[in-house]
Amino acid sequence: MSLAINVEHLTKQYENQTVISDLTIQINVGEVIVFQGPSGVGKSTFLRCLTYLEPFQKGCIQVGNLELRPNMDIRKEKLVIQSVREQIGFVFQFFNLFPHLTVLENLMLAPQVVLNEERQKAMEYGIDLLKRVNLEHKAMSYTGTLSGGQKQRIAIARALAMRPKVMLFDEPTSSLDPEMKEEIAEVIANFAKDGLTILIVTHEPAFVERIATRVVKFGPQGAILSDQKKSKWNLWSNS
Ligand SMILES: Nc1ncnc2c1ncn2[C@@H]1O[C@H](COP(=O)(O)OP(=O)(O)O)[C@@H](O)[C@H]1O
Ligand SMILES: [Mg+2]
Repeated sequence: MSLAINVEHLTKQYENQTVISDLTIQINVGEVIVFQGPSGVGKSTFLRCLTYLEPFQKGCIQVGNLELRPNMDIRKEKLVIQSVREQIGFVFQFFNLFPHLTVLENLMLAPQVVLNEERQKAMEYGIDLLKRVNLEHKAMSYTGTLSGGQKQRIAIARALAMRPKVMLFDEPTSSLDPEMKEEIAEVIANFAKDGLTILIVTHEPAFVERIATRVVKFGPQGAILSDQKKSKWNLWSNS
């Protein structure tokens, strides 16, 4: 098994408060890990450190052959940080879609601007992703007209348009109605089957039961209270 992300002795403080203390965890390619734990133990902060949306004070994070270190100079080391962000897609609780763009344009923007993809190619891949989240018929709609579950499926497709190796989900269904939670779980399960490495912060039982290959429970300051591997069989059953 090869490592997707290697976190060693990560310590993160906000001013005087230590939010993550000496966290070490290895994440293998293709794992689908659900992170759980009470509010405030640093789950979101942990995900944000992985893409250097938050700098940290100690330890190191390796993403493929790239390395994030404490207190990096964001301007001088822009290339490393950008490369990490290109490899890791991030989907948040709220969708952060661009309201002035159509659904398809939302998916085409970053690949063209960041990856210099040709418009035609970005469009084809965008449509392909829309099919996979069952929203091809919404390609020309503005995002304001979509339901919460549809917005979240677009947010997932948009992150995937950048062809990331790893996807992070921070409570992706907590602002959705129960039936929409199911459809998001379904969409993520389908991408999980393709071997994408996926980290999800959620308390939704459907994710643990159907998608997770590993469940990690955080206690205060990002302490790992339990780390349980599950049979990958779960991915293929009940779907
Ligand atoms: N930008 C910030 N500035 C200062 N403190 C923060 C910031 N973000 C989070 N915190 C604090 O860090 C702790 C962990 O937060 P968070 O990572 O959001 O936890 P979780 O996602 O597990 O609920 C909390 O005490 C929170 O108040
Ligand atoms: Mg959180």
